[in-house]
Amino acid sequence: MIICNCRSFPLPPEHGGGGYWVGEDAAFGGIMRNKFYITTPIYYVNDQPHIGHAYTTILADVLARYHRMMGVPVFFLTGTDEHGQKVKRAAEKAGRTPKEHADATVVRFQDLWKKLQITNDDFIRTTEERHRRVVQEILSRLYENDDIYRSEYDGWYCVACERYYTEKDLVEGRCPEQGCGRQVERLRESNYFFRMGKYQDWLIAYIEQHPEFIQPDFRRNETLGFLRKKLNDLCVSRPKSRMDWGIELPFDSDYVTYVWFDALVNYISAVGYLRDEDLFSRWWPASYHLIGKDILTTHTVYWPTMLKAMGLQMPECVFAHGWWLVGQDKMSKTKGNVVNPMEMVDRYGADAFRYFLMSAMPLGQDASFSEDLFERRYNADLANDLGNMLSRVMKLVADRCGGQIPRPVHSGAEEDRLRNLALAAVRKMREAVNAMKVDAGLAAVSEVVREANRYLEKTQPWTLARDGREEEMRTVLYCAAEVLRVVGGLLQPVMPSKMATLYATLGCKDAPTLFASLEQWNVLQPGTPVGPMVTLFPKTAKDGSVQIAEPKAVGELGRTAAPTMAAAKAEEGDGAEVEYEQFEKLDLRTARVISAEKVPSADKLLKLEIELGQEKRQIIAGIARHYKPEDLVGKIIVVVANLKPIRIRGLESKGMLLAAADEDAGVLRLVTVDGTIVKSGLKVK
Ligand code: MSP
Repeated sequence: MIICNCRSFPLPPEHGGGGYWVGEDAAFGGIMRNKFYITTPIYYVNDQPHIGHAYTTILADVLARYHRMMGVPVFFLTGTDEHGQKVKRAAEKAGRTPKEHADATVVRFQDLWKKLQITNDDFIRTTEERHRRVVQEILSRLYENDDIYRSEYDGWYCVACERYYTEKDLVEGRCPEQGCGRQVERLRESNYFFRMGKYQDWLIAYIEQHPEFIQPDFRRNETLGFLRKKLNDLCVSRPKSRMDWGIELPFDSDYVTYVWFDALVNYISAVGYLRDEDLFSRWWPASYHLIGKDILTTHTVYWPTMLKAMGLQMPECVFAHGWWLVGQDKMSKTKGNVVNPMEMVDRYGADAFRYFLMSAMPLGQDASFSEDLFERRYNADLANDLGNMLSRVMKLVADRCGGQIPRPVHSGAEEDRLRNLALAAVRKMREAVNAMKVDAGLAAVSEVVREANRYLEKTQPWTLARDGREEEMRTVLYCAAEVLRVVGGLLQPVMPSKMATLYATLGCKDAPTLFASLEQWNVLQPGTPVGPMVTLFPKTAKDGSVQIAEPKAVGELGRTAAPTMAAAKAEEGDGAEVEYEQFEKLDLRTARVISAEKVPSADKLLKLEIELGQEKRQIIAGIARHYKPEDLVGKIIVVVANLKPIRIRGLESKGMLLAAADEDAGVLRLVTVDGTIVKSGLKVK
């Protein structure tokens, strides 16, 4: 492994950063790491945190937690950017000094990170002495090396972005920054410049030779596109006469440091650069700088050239994620659509919020946030699929296995299949995390949960229990509990509290600390007392009410009542509305029940013979708990007549009857037509 000698300054041409050190101690999706250093941007303390800040920090936390579970030493850094015009202005507005304002605002970030269960190893504030000293030392050295020089500046300045632009940088005479586009001011003043332009050719070559350096690929192309124009030197000072809130230049007390030059240095000042050589060589270079797409240039042009001038290694990867939009709109205070993460956490809990942000944004792309989308995904993936599975299994374990993990007896092909699926999800999660596709890893986990629910529907352990087929029932419950163990471990970095509860419910003292245990099967010890039953994810409704999701009556109405994730996704894409043509495709008809009888060994199913005009057919319906067979005969009901036939318990079911279920009251009632209609086969529209 190459260790950079960070004290000698500047170092000869950098040591070939990028790429991964290949060691033997910790494998991660095919890549071995001996350490993982991850950073978030440091957030401006001019305002309160919003969902965009929460997203990056949660993502960093999730990646940090996955790596810790891989046995990789992790250093996770976040913090606040406390200098510059934005903070100064916000402070003036609040009637405080900038430092007072920073001290008041930083707490909002720190409180939010606590609430969101963020496990950062350090929190750096750019007003701290440990940071100021390093920034000044770097400036002095660059100045001595003539990498910083004084010159007259005559050009344009964007106050909001705090950046200088030449005439040709401007877009239609306005600030060229993505998402800014504001009016710029003409400026003529003496300033200090960093010779960034001199590193242009080197930077282009470096980016081309290290495709992993800027991710996703299209962002690398964006930076290379930016570098096609001549790269100007970077103005790194601000005259105090205009803006005095910053780190003073060590060689000219009339100036403070440009906020971006100061801020970027946090990634090295926090890990001991020029302060603690051991610490620094242990962690630098960073494995990932996570950033939003709007701060790509500062991180992939300014920062690498600064590091190059300092003789330091490049970070392995700068990863730019997309933006959270509200509907299709950018969040903005003027539009009043800013999503406050504190409120979301208060309403839904940190775990559910973390899960939504991680599962709903394909990394790198923009994603849309709405409470509606949040609730749909929550109810589908968490309340209906995972929560319901846990309730089903643990209720039977409590009622039928004496509250102890059952001993499996007849493990067969179905169980092998489920085990293979669960273990494949572990591999997929490793690969997904390594490829920065956390959403894909979570989708693989959701798929296993859905398969496990299908397995339960197929094997019907509740029927096995009732029929006295104890050994088969135990096998099914054990296998399902093992799936829950693996799934719980895989979801733990995303939902640490809920998964700790899930593990406690399974009777495990602790949630797993290492990934390796998830790659094994038959880990739960038969005979272990399980924990108390919980409703892991109570159902939510938009009005803020919370319905407790009872274990679903499996097979009721012949299918699970909860929407699957795929269904929720399809809905998200299309919106909740359907075209009339789509509705028309459903052939809804009145039908008369001719006969009804119970399906043997299925306590919820009735076999109905119905008449549809001239035609007679059979429907299997999960309504035995709500209707006696004799009460149904002669009734006119409504059925979906053109549904593909399916087989339930080996019996053909051709069509589906319509019913409304009030789950809270435990009541189900069939849809009928007004009593005056007595004909069957009539079209219902
Ligand atoms: N202080 C600088 C970063 C310096 S890093 C050396 C800064 N701060 S910020 O508070 O304005 O923004 C921090 C991060 O939040 C940026 O990565 C930005 O992309 C991100 N987001 C701001 N709004 C966002 C969304 N709506 N969605 C996702 N992230 C967004 O820039």
